[in-house]
Amino acid sequence: MAAGQALAALLAALLAVSAQLLPPQASFAISLRKVDNTTVTIKLKPGVSSICKMRIRSVIRSELILKPGENVTFTFTCSTPEKYFIMEIQKNIDCVSGPCPFGDVYLYPVQLPRLNRTYTWDVKASTKAGLELKFSAPWLRQIEPGETCSDFISYNINSCIDNTMVNIGTFCRNGSVSRVKLLGGVVMSLHLPWDSSLTTSGFSIANRTSIKRLCIIESILKGESSITLMSPNYPLGFPEDELMTWQFVVPSSMRASVFFHNYSLSNCERKEERVEYYIPGSPSNPEVFKLSDSQPANIAGSFNMSLQGCDQDAQNPGILRLLFQVIVQHPQLDENVTHLVDLSKERNMTVTIHLDGWPGRIPLMSEPVCLICKDPRTCDRILTLASGTVYRISFLCKDLSRLRITAEKGISCVDLRWCQRKIYSLSVPKAILQLPIQLHEFIWKLLAPDLINIEVTSPSLKLQQHVRDVPEQRCNRSYSYSIVSATPETELNVGVFCPGGSIEKIQMRNNITITLRAFGKGFINETNHQDLKMSFVPHIKDECSFTVSPNSKAKVYLQTPNWRYGLPPYVSISWYIIVPSKQIARLGFSKDRMGIACETGRAYINIKEETLGAEETVRREDEVLPDPRNMYHNFWVNISNCKPVDKMQLTLEFWVTFADKQIDLGIILAVVAGAGVLLAIGLAVCCVKKKKKTQNPMVGVYNANVNTQMPGKKSLFRKGRQNNESHVYAVIDDAVVYGHLLKESNGSVAPEVDVYRPFDGRMGSLPPSPPPFSFRKDIKCSSNTEEESPPLMDTDHDTYTFAHQKLGQLEDNGDANEKDKEDTSMPLLESKKQDGLVE
Ligand SMILES: *[C@@H]1O[C@H](CO)[C@@H](O)[C@H](O)[C@H]1NC(C)=O
Ligand SMILES: *[C@@H]1O[C@H](CO)[C@@H](O)[C@H](O)[C@H]1NC(C)=O
Ligand SMILES: *[C@@H]1O[C@H](CO)[C@@H](O)[C@H](O)[C@H]1NC(C)=O
Ligand SMILES: *[C@@H]1O[C@H](CO)[C@@H](O)[C@H](O)[C@H]1NC(C)=O
Ligand SMILES: *[C@@H]1O[C@H](CO)[C@@H](O)[C@H](O)[C@H]1NC(C)=O
Ligand SMILES: *[C@@H]1O[C@H](CO)[C@@H](O)[C@H](O)[C@H]1NC(C)=O
Ligand SMILES: *[C@@H]1O[C@H](CO)[C@@H](O)[C@H](O)[C@H]1NC(C)=O
Ligand SMILES: *[C@@H]1O[C@H](CO)[C@@H](O)[C@H](O)[C@H]1NC(C)=O
Ligand SMILES: *[C@@H]1O[C@H](CO)[C@@H](O)[C@H](O)[C@H]1NC(C)=O
Ligand SMILES: *[C@@H]1O[C@H](CO)[C@@H](O)[C@H](O)[C@H]1NC(C)=O
Ligand SMILES: *[C@@H]1O[C@H](CO)[C@@H](O)[C@H](O)[C@H]1NC(C)=O
Ligand SMILES: *[C@@H]1O[C@H](CO)[C@@H](O)[C@H](O)[C@H]1NC(C)=O
Repeated sequence: MAAGQALAALLAALLAVSAQLLPPQASFAISLRKVDNTTVTIKLKPGVSSICKMRIRSVIRSELILKPGENVTFTFTCSTPEKYFIMEIQKNIDCVSGPCPFGDVYLYPVQLPRLNRTYTWDVKASTKAGLELKFSAPWLRQIEPGETCSDFISYNINSCIDNTMVNIGTFCRNGSVSRVKLLGGVVMSLHLPWDSSLTTSGFSIANRTSIKRLCIIESILKGESSITLMSPNYPLGFPEDELMTWQFVVPSSMRASVFFHNYSLSNCERKEERVEYYIPGSPSNPEVFKLSDSQPANIAGSFNMSLQGCDQDAQNPGILRLLFQVIVQHPQLDENVTHLVDLSKERNMTVTIHLDGWPGRIPLMSEPVCLICKDPRTCDRILTLASGTVYRISFLCKDLSRLRITAEKGISCVDLRWCQRKIYSLSVPKAILQLPIQLHEFIWKLLAPDLINIEVTSPSLKLQQHVRDVPEQRCNRSYSYSIVSATPETELNVGVFCPGGSIEKIQMRNNITITLRAFGKGFINETNHQDLKMSFVPHIKDECSFTVSPNSKAKVYLQTPNWRYGLPPYVSISWYIIVPSKQIARLGFSKDRMGIACETGRAYINIKEETLGAEETVRREDEVLPDPRNMYHNFWVNISNCKPVDKMQLTLEFWVTFADKQIDLGIILAVVAGAGVLLAIGLAVCCVKKKKKTQNPMVGVYNANVNTQMPGKKSLFRKGRQNNESHVYAVIDDAVVYGHLLKESNGSVAPEVDVYRPFDGRMGSLPPSPPPFSFRKDIKCSSNTEEESPPLMDTDHDTYTFAHQKLGQLEDNGDANEKDKEDTSMPLLESKKQDGLVE
């Protein structure tokens, strides 16, 4: 007994195990009535090979086709046949030879295995009769090819013209498409996933009189909503010479607007592709539009839109297709409020009103739209207004704070004779400021040919450079200006500036883009006194030159342009700092080295006070930057870059503070010193005055221009630089003289005499190679060293007499100070001095 019980237990256990391994399969019985004209096919999903099969009685098969009137009972050999098998249920409905079974369409047969399945209703009808597919709520939504429905339930509607299938569209449930009317039959399919519990087809078929076109698609838009629709076959071509209509049922209290997002046209041989609208109340029905036109907006209530194709060129038919959107909104409270935008006096300006975030951000379909209207029915989400015209615009937008204005104005100068002395105000026109829309950007594009440069001034407000890591010098106003200088090849981000600083003037080469960016509403108030002006000026020497005149005791920080990416190679920038007469400035650098190594050329910092015989401080990239120092006069800071070795960037920041002068004899002297006094002191103390018109070669040139080549370095030195800005470097130019190194005519080394001509070519093509002899540190201005020359006091800077040292004995030497004394060129100085003193 015990053994028997044990055996029974073992058997039971084995059975349980086998039951788990091979669970009993549900068996399916499908029976098709003849009258239903339905065929059921169960087959493996294409491309899937599977161990799972169907067992019909004892026969194992992987495909089953059940015809009308047949019945079958089968099981699957696995428990998850939905992973491998799909099912097609095709019903043929013939309305040509017999009466049509109109009405609701059922999902027949019932109790099918749970597999992904496609029901297809192939309705044959006379081309003279119309067929209507009517969908039950919540209706359908058309989807683009490739899109899937969230519940994986989709409808596909196809029609036949002359034996060619036309795909009317693919739809998901839950939309606004309520009816589709077709001509001459339809092939309608419904795709259901295996786990769908849908038991009804969701539509009915009815017969209608002929619709005389390919199809009519009806949409019912009840509340605020949006619908996207496509022409049949989209993105392929709409059938040639066909007509179709979309009907939109909209409550008369609502407003509808049509937007064409994507369309293309075919090549028409005869007739024109167009859309026609039937708009209730319109005096000119149908209203005909090209696809390229702005489509009607703000339509009150229901309307029709028809798409008409053309006879296409057989050789090159092209494609007519259209994807469009209809948006329905409540009428806006201020739809009848028009805003006058008078741009008639503006020139070369465009004003674009758009949604915040445009063009990058695509608004969600669910977001309420904001429309801008040029007239009551011409509205769009983006409106561009051009100068020279007066507009009356209105807004269909609940929340105007979502809209922004971006404007652009071009100012160009072709011939300096016409634009020099002209001062252009860079201010946002009142016509824009008075709109209830926030300004996003106002862009000034300042274009000038190569030899004309641009000067930007802010006489009363003055500009502050935005310095990110200095909290008190961050631009925290409601607007800022970003200035970019661009050649076709490169861009120099001059910086971000805002009003209320100490920069009075910026001179720049190249074409300049100034972008005013407004942040928040305070802008309107702050722009009451906009104060940015620009003018075209003759060629300047540096890439960029700032005039800084601080009017407070605050610390002013200044940074080299292109802060993020470093100063471009060979670029030279200068700052002219105005020191109020009763104050002393203190200048310091935020780091102690330039932090670069040069691959080609050398990088320099030159600091020089604008006073007679002032000492110049020069630092090369391999030297320590100057310690903080007091400056008693207006002074220049010049930074010129070399080509740094890979990945190194020249970014320099310096600061200037001001303090009241103490009563100090030396300073008083400096303050009271007029030009004449200074000159006298200069002559007496240290320097040699040279008249330019004398043939004596002497004047060398400061490393003001990156193109400046070292005299004597090249045997031919033709390329000079222009210096029309006589105030720029008026002192430095002449004070930094290496003429002392050049042999006088009486010396053993005869200098070559060359003449600097106004610069007439592109700048920046040559690396900077400052004259090595000018490279001296902290040159002392004393009777002992005698290295300095007083300014020439000659305002004609167009030509420079220039001497070349023929001997190559002069080396680039940072310790020139000491060596100079032993230098063979020293006698030159002596003779030069004498020469100067002759005067
Ligand atoms: C299947 O068809 C046979 C005759 O073809 C019929 O006898 C049988 O009753 C049918 N079974 C079912 C379940 O309809
Ligand atoms: C069934 O449909 C779902 C959803 O569309 C799909 O992910 C799955 O691959 C389909 N299965 C088969 C066997 O086709
Ligand atoms: C059944 O389908 C066939 C093939 O399409 C067709 O010839 C026949 O008329 C249809 N019968 C009915 C009742 O619709
Ligand atoms: C239908 O769509 C609306 C919004 O698009 C959504 O709120 C609703 O849940 C959807 N209904 C169904 C049954 O999917
Ligand atoms: C629809 O079909 C029925 C019979 O099938 C016919 O009596 C009726 O006239 C048809 N209606 C139209 C609009 O063609
Ligand atoms: C418009 O058509 C282009 C090209 O077919 C496609 O890349 C783009 O996504 C379409 N845009 C929309 C909104 O469908
Ligand atoms: C749409 O156009 C048809 C004629 O094509 C017209 O009978 C119908 O009234 C129009 N519907 C609307 C809403 O304008
Ligand atoms: C705008 O004007 C039209 C025509 O005068 C009028 O029918 C409509 O009610 C007005 N809308 C509003 C919001 O006042
Ligand atoms: C107008 O601006 C464009 C660039 O925005 C410029 O190319 C053009 O020269 C400007 N015209 C005038 C007259 O300033
Ligand atoms: C801007 O910053 C300055 C300096 O930090 C400060 O004094 C001023 O109050 C700030 N202004 C605003 C509007 O935040
Ligand atoms: C400025 O723009 C004008 C017109 O686009 C162009 O001819 C000129 O070369 C540009 N100047 C520079 C320095 O890039
Ligand atoms: C602008 O100025 C007016 C009056 O001067 C003031 O009432 C308003 O609050 C200010 N607006 C902003 C955003 O500062």
